[in-house]
Amino acid sequence: MPDTRLELLIADVVAKFAEKYASDPDIVVAAPGRVNLIGEHIDYNDGFVLPMAIERYTVIAAKVDPQNEATATLYSVDMDEQADISLVDPVKKENSHWSNYVTGVVDGMVKGKGFSIPGFQAVAKSNVPIGGGLSSSASLEVATATLIEAITGQTIAKVDKGLVCQKAEHDFAGVPCGIMDQFSSVLCESDHVLLLDCRDQSFQQIPFSNPDIVVLIINSEVKHELSGGEYAQRRAQCEEALEILGAESYRDVTLQQLQQKKDDFDEVVYHRAHHVVTEIARTVKTAEAMKKNAWQTVGELMYASHASLRDDFEVSCKELDVLVDIASKTDGVIGARMTGGGFGGCIVALVQGNKADSISDSICREYEEQTGVKPSAFMTRPGQGAHVIQS
Ligand code: GLA
Repeated sequence: MPDTRLELLIADVVAKFAEKYASDPDIVVAAPGRVNLIGEHIDYNDGFVLPMAIERYTVIAAKVDPQNEATATLYSVDMDEQADISLVDPVKKENSHWSNYVTGVVDGMVKGKGFSIPGFQAVAKSNVPIGGGLSSSASLEVATATLIEAITGQTIAKVDKGLVCQKAEHDFAGVPCGIMDQFSSVLCESDHVLLLDCRDQSFQQIPFSNPDIVVLIINSEVKHELSGGEYAQRRAQCEEALEILGAESYRDVTLQQLQQKKDDFDEVVYHRAHHVVTEIARTVKTAEAMKKNAWQTVGELMYASHASLRDDFEVSCKELDVLVDIASKTDGVIGARMTGGGFGGCIVALVQGNKADSISDSICREYEEQTGVKPSAFMTRPGQGAHVIQS
């Protein structure tokens, strides 16, 4: 089925390009945001994750500019701002500027992968909600890498592309993220979820087998500001626990081994490790259940994941808990949990497609009654990983 929303977004970007640069673009690319069904905060712990692309994308249209050999001129429709980025010596801007995601990828492709990129003019626009934990920044990074491949006619292995984009996030945006977001935007396929092994970076495409189930994403519309430092702190606590366990990797740790060593741990650090070990097991079970069309089991595992993120890992917040609680009591909801880094952002729920609209309306209404905050929601099926639309 054609994705009309994506087609409209592309038409918009192409029209904006013509308006800004008085010509048509040669190249158009798209890269999606993602939602993680289960496997949270374990991508940086050698775990498994189970994300899918959402049908929300960042689109970039571009044309080589022979007048301008060493610079990319990129206009962001969302920011209503233009940035000039050196293609020879990319420099990071102050104050978390949006163009740093692009500059970081240029840097990785030029300095890390030896690309020589001709000057170009471009326009970018995204319909991935910003700041909702749906990887809007990864979609911009991966769209940029895909554009650079299309412009130069050279490609790199998909895993390397994910790594270049992750490095951009680390070095140019200052976020010590794992590999999930960028790999999802590169690797996901429509009608599939991605089972990614974050230890060896291998992956499987698992069919999202039931056409009658849709993914409902509800944005709590809250973002608690502590999130930046909390993420790095969780990573440090997980490393500390691994050291106490005397293990190289969480994949070598069983729940029993962890429980036997409980007395060696500070209580908080023990709970962090407990989340990691149990979430790895839940993610593997979820993938197996999905292969068997055992959606009830998938739902139960999602609720268990949420409880673990709330109680053991402490990255949920009141608003996300309220949303999951309401969802769990709503007829037609198979499972629900917070998704992404936490401290606000979105929940993901699997719901029966024929009731999806009324489910969404009733959860949103009740959430607003309980919290006074108006949420936003949308439904999606697994979207398509980064791709070239025109070149
Ligand atoms: C953020 C990070 C990811 C991952 C999630 C939590 O989205 O960018 O790498 O760690 O949080 O699962």
